[in-house]
Amino acid sequence: KEVVLSGIRPTGFLHLGNYFGAMRNFVRMQEEFECYFFVADWHSLTTHPDTKELRSSVLRVIAENIACGLDPEKVALYVQSDVREIAELYLYLNMLAYTGELERTTTFKDKVRLNPGNVNAGLLTYPVLMAADILVHRAVKVPVGKDQEQHIEMARNFAERFNHRYGDVFPAPHAFNYSTKLVKIMSLDGVGKMSKSENQMATLYLADDDDSIRKKIMKAKTDSGPTEHNSEKPDYIENLFTLMKLVSTDDVVQQFEAAFNGCSIRYGDMKKQLAEDMVKFMSPIREKAAAIQNDKEYLAKIMASGAEKARASASKTLAEVRKAVGMQYL
Ligand code: TYM
Repeated sequence: KEVVLSGIRPTGFLHLGNYFGAMRNFVRMQEEFECYFFVADWHSLTTHPDTKELRSSVLRVIAENIACGLDPEKVALYVQSDVREIAELYLYLNMLAYTGELERTTTFKDKVRLNPGNVNAGLLTYPVLMAADILVHRAVKVPVGKDQEQHIEMARNFAERFNHRYGDVFPAPHAFNYSTKLVKIMSLDGVGKMSKSENQMATLYLADDDDSIRKKIMKAKTDSGPTEHNSEKPDYIENLFTLMKLVSTDDVVQQFEAAFNGCSIRYGDMKKQLAEDMVKFMSPIREKAAAIQNDKEYLAKIMASGAEKARASASKTLAEVRKAVGMQYL
């Protein structure tokens, strides 16, 4: 079976971007592949050094993934810092990563611009730690949203560089989505991608109650509608259609597509429909997640068994890595 890996940072509440970009694929992939999914708590330290909320965020991410349909019996669901082998592989890969390429990484440049006061070395080597996450299980498919594409390319480069220098240990990992395109869900205000920390009114969190979901959708950015038949959709309108395709029936989507193309669309009606369908979609997830989050014993069991599975796979890889590098002295 091909190996699949993906991670989520525990830096806040999970949102629809995380769900549609990544988690939805996890749920489908668990039926077909050998899957490793984890909470990237080390990665969160690059931007969130304050760890007061960390524990509750980690537990929530685990609970929300299970609520979305991940089955801990079928996959390894674990926390990154429980698998020390990742840190060891990160060290080897750091010697193969060039500071120039790390400095050119888009996410690094964005983070420097946003927070020039905390440009730590961990932020610079973020893609190297990600590569270690992936390669430690010799994963080949990495289900992620569009924003992670460059990181996966870098992981592929580091893997090739390692193989070239020390011999073939790693297969080449690729970003994955069931449809050929990687997903990017935009923020409801039409400014950039939906994200954990940006405008909270424009982000639909999996934990939002029904009224917040309705309010946020009704406030989503629209305009006065097209004036020419079959015109191209502005990206914030396209985004509403994308969300609608994900939660509404085909009939409903077609009806609004036709209205758009015929210049008779009423965005108020569209948003009302989308809000109701979204509430129907999201409320069972929220309720299930809340119940799981309260069951600390169950969560502890899952994290322990996930870590055990992940360590078994990781230690095998590291034994090969040490051998390939020539660091076996006994
Ligand atoms: P993170 O925690 O920012 O996001 C988790 C997943 O959600 C996807 N995503 C989105 N997809 C579509 N539209 C959006 N608006 C949107 N926002 C987030 C992300 O692409 C991601 O798949 N660096 C990673 C975590 C990580 C990782 C890894 C991922 C650490 N090691 C190894 C894969 C493999 C991150 O910060 O994701």
